[in-house]
Amino acid sequence: MEIKLINLTKVFVDKTKKETRAVDNFNITIPSGKLVGLLGPSGCGKSTTLFMIAGLHDPTDGRIFFGEDDVTRLSPDKRGIGLVFQNYALYPHMTVRQNIMFPLENLQVERNEALKETQAIANLVGIGNLLDRKPAQLSGGQQQRVAIARALVKKPRVLLLDEPLSNLDARLRLQMREEIKRIQRETGITTIFVTHDQEEAMSISDEIIIMNFGVEMQKGKPQDIYNHPDNLFVAKFLGNPPINTFEGEIKGNYLYFEGEKLFPKKAPNGIYHVGIRPEDFKVNDVKEGVKVNTETMEVIGRDTMIRFNAGEHQVRALVESETVVGKKEVYLTVRDDKIHLFDYESEIALRKIQDLSPEELEKARAEKRIEKQKFAEAQAIREEKTRKQRRPKKSKKESE
Ligand SMILES: Nc1ncnc2c1ncn2[C@@H]1O[C@H](COP(=O)(O)OP(=O)(O)OP(=O)(O)O)[C@@H](O)[C@H]1O
Ligand SMILES: [Mg+2]
Repeated sequence: MEIKLINLTKVFVDKTKKETRAVDNFNITIPSGKLVGLLGPSGCGKSTTLFMIAGLHDPTDGRIFFGEDDVTRLSPDKRGIGLVFQNYALYPHMTVRQNIMFPLENLQVERNEALKETQAIANLVGIGNLLDRKPAQLSGGQQQRVAIARALVKKPRVLLLDEPLSNLDARLRLQMREEIKRIQRETGITTIFVTHDQEEAMSISDEIIIMNFGVEMQKGKPQDIYNHPDNLFVAKFLGNPPINTFEGEIKGNYLYFEGEKLFPKKAPNGIYHVGIRPEDFKVNDVKEGVKVNTETMEVIGRDTMIRFNAGEHQVRALVESETVVGKKEVYLTVRDDKIHLFDYESEIALRKIQDLSPEELEKARAEKRIEKQKFAEAQAIREEKTRKQRRPKKSKKESE
């Protein structure tokens, strides 16, 4: 079932009347039967969005549709949602069977039917043989499966997962994310998966929505977003090792950095934010491009990471090991379409800028100025907090 958020907004007001726009005019469509990753840094409004879809928070403004139904004012139990949180809070005194069956008892499903459903769903998530155990007798991954089974047993129309894997160790996370993908495919249930881990989102999602400061930054297929980021934020947020970014200049279809001519790049003359992913550098034999010495390289199996300085900047290039082994210096090039250019002020990708009218561009630039100011304020608050925490408490004597 398709989920549609229209102008969805949530403003929290604290005791001092200070407003936080946790979600700001959010418009998205989650296609039916797909697994959509909601990705963004801490505090960007992911959980708030999910809680509004679940009915646990009332939106300040906007509407939520499940298919044709407007569910904006519907109570959570009438929405047909299954919810799994980071702290999946199983009932410790109940067996796995009782934990999974609990929502069915609430719905007064006949007991034999409920037992049958419980067994089927437990089999689906791979814990069919653990039904008589108590949660304390399970591993973290098994407990997480119980929580997912409990969310699925009511046959919800929508499955909402809020950082469901963050309590698990790295290996288990990997295994569980494949499991979630399998379960979602087998049930075909429309799923929203919230995470701040870009690799997790990229690997699990049919589509990704990237948020920052309560607004959408980009949505699309993971690989499309990765290859064609709409703005500098998205470019920097996706990728490990991260994209190299610097301020560069285009002159006569060449990219320059601090006066040094780097690579050919077809674009209008001007100053830009430039992004080049480490893996997009290629070693070439014809001595074209940037000459770097390979003293500081790190062989990581098949790949080698070369670090070199461009002005004050350290640049990382990830190349195939066999192209650099035994060489003292190499020449690196980058294909034209792998050099990402962003408007200097608005930080929007050049290819998007070209579609904007002058008014739209000015508006985007003004919005970016506001966002930068917001970011600086948030940063100042965080720094103030850490300063306060670090400051040793005055002893009684001193304060007298
Ligand atoms: N109940 C609340 N009252 C006031 N402010 C809140 C409340 N819940 C969330 N916020 C604020 O709204 C913003 C978005 O919070 P939210 O929990 O949605 O972030 P998130 O993207 O889920 O972050 P995380 O990755 O850390 O879980 C934050 O600035 C947060 O402090
Ligand atoms: Mg959250």
